[in-house]
Amino acid sequence: MSKDWVRWHQEYDAQGSSLGRRLEVVRRDLRRALGTSPSEPDGTRRLISICAGDGRDVLPVIAEHDRRVRALLVELDPTLARRARETADDLGLSSVEIRTADAGDAGTYLDVRPAHILLACGVFGNVGDDDVRRTVAALPTLLVAGGIVIWTRARADDGSDPSQWVRTLFAEHGFTELSFTAPDDARFRVGMHRLAGAVRHGALSDRLFTFRASGAG
Ligand SMILES: C[S@@+](CC[C@H](N)C(=O)[O-])C[C@H]1O[C@@H](n2cnc3c(N)ncnc32)[C@H](O)[C@@H]1O
Repeated sequence: MSKDWVRWHQEYDAQGSSLGRRLEVVRRDLRRALGTSPSEPDGTRRLISICAGDGRDVLPVIAEHDRRVRALLVELDPTLARRARETADDLGLSSVEIRTADAGDAGTYLDVRPAHILLACGVFGNVGDDDVRRTVAALPTLLVAGGIVIWTRARADDGSDPSQWVRTLFAEHGFTELSFTAPDDARFRVGMHRLAGAVRHGALSDRLFTFRASGAG
C-alpha cells in the first residue's frame, strides 16, 4: 500500500516538529538561491519542484521575494496538488503551474525548459540508491548552467547518514556545494548545490525514480 502523503504533511503543523524546522531551512536556502542563481536577461527565473507536496516550501517564498518566478510544481497526489493550486491562487501567483503528474517519469519534462532553481525535497529518502544515482545524474539536463538544486535526505534510524553519499554524488556530476545544513539534534539534512560543470541539454531517456511503497519522508 502506498503511503498517505496528505497525512505525512500534518507533521508540518506540529509545534517544533523536525519537519517544520526542515521547512524553515529549505525556505531560507530558496531565498538565497533566488538572490544568487542565474536568471533570464529580463530577471525572470524558472523553478521546478519535483514531488512538490502542497508547495508550502516554494509558494510563500516566491510570493514574498520574487513574484516573477515561473514555477512548475510536479506532484502525483491530486489532493496535495489541489492544495498547492489553491495556495498559489490565494497568494495571487499567476506564473505557477501545478502539474499532477509522475515526477519520476522522464516524459513529464518533455516540454519543460531548463530551470534556474530545482527543489528535490523529500525524494531521495523514498527511493532506492540506483534511483538516487539516476536522478542526480539527470539533474544537469533539467538545469541551466549555474542552476541551483536544493535537496533533502534524512539520517537513518540506525544513525547512518546517507546524505554524505548524496553529497558525493552531486560532486561527481558537476555540482559544487553552496551549503549543507545538518543540525546535531535533528535527522534532516538540507543540501544546496550549484551546477558548475557541463550542461547536457536534451530529452531525458530513462525513468528517474519510483517511490518505495513504504516511504520514509
Ligand atoms: C516526502 S513528501 C515531500 C513533499 C514536499 N517536497 C516537501 O518536502 O514538503 C513526498 C511527496 O512526493 C509525492 N510523490 C510520490 N511519488 C511521486 C511521483 N512519482 N511523482 C510526483 N510526486 C510524487 C508524494 O505525494 C508526496 O507529496
